[in-house]
Amino acid sequence: MIESFHSSANGKFMKRIIIGITGATGILYGIRILELLKKNPAVETHLILSKPAVQTLAYETDMNLQAIKGLADQVHSNEDIAASVSSGSFQTEAMIIAPCSMRTLSAIAHGHSDKLIARAADVILKERRRLILMVRETPLHYGHLQNMLLVTQMGAIVAPPVPAFYHRPQSIDDIVDHTVGRILDLIHIEHNLVARWKDPLASSQ
Ligand SMILES: Cc1cc2nc3c(=O)[nH]c(=O)nc-3n(C[C@H](O)[C@H](O)[C@H](O)COP(=O)(O)O)c2cc1C
Repeated sequence: MIESFHSSANGKFMKRIIIGITGATGILYGIRILELLKKNPAVETHLILSKPAVQTLAYETDMNLQAIKGLADQVHSNEDIAASVSSGSFQTEAMIIAPCSMRTLSAIAHGHSDKLIARAADVILKERRRLILMVRETPLHYGHLQNMLLVTQMGAIVAPPVPAFYHRPQSIDDIVDHTVGRILDLIHIEHNLVARWKDPLASSQ
């Protein structure tokens, strides 16, 4: 169970979640996670976008950068290696990189913390907090697979955005929501995006 911490900013118990968005295809996943967490008053989000993520944004959505930044409570530059989230003393609970490029995966696997996304991920791992990497590439060569093994050995969760079809998705949003729901499960955030398989206690969609 992930414990919440007491945020002195508003006097409430909050979950502080870092969202990294990198230049792999699938920026919709990061955006959808931010949209859902924004509705949750018990969550404070810290967003970091890589430069290539800003490029893929233009290819893959009609949203502008400011609109995405507006979904987060705090936004940090990927160049700001002195940002709050670069220190383990700054209390956070989890980090999701959605999507995670092979470049950022490699940086994390080999401890290259020269950009804030990789540094924040390194901190999450050293503090034994939860790091979820929505790695995206296909097909995969030996180096990609080796890096996934390395980060898994360090404690990260490799969670590629691989769609499921048993829930009969009718749209891209259905596919994205199902995957995002399974990611939110990993950080114990309640949602009703996923019909729970054969669970009589769960409400159906
Ligand atoms: C449209 C587009 C799609 C891309 N898709 C992927 C991808 O799925 N996986 C990946 O590893 N890199 C992909 N790339 C390449 C990355 O953006 C590139 O390696 C970049 O250096 C990653 O840097 P970052 O990790 O700092 O975001 C894509 C690039 C573009 C322009």
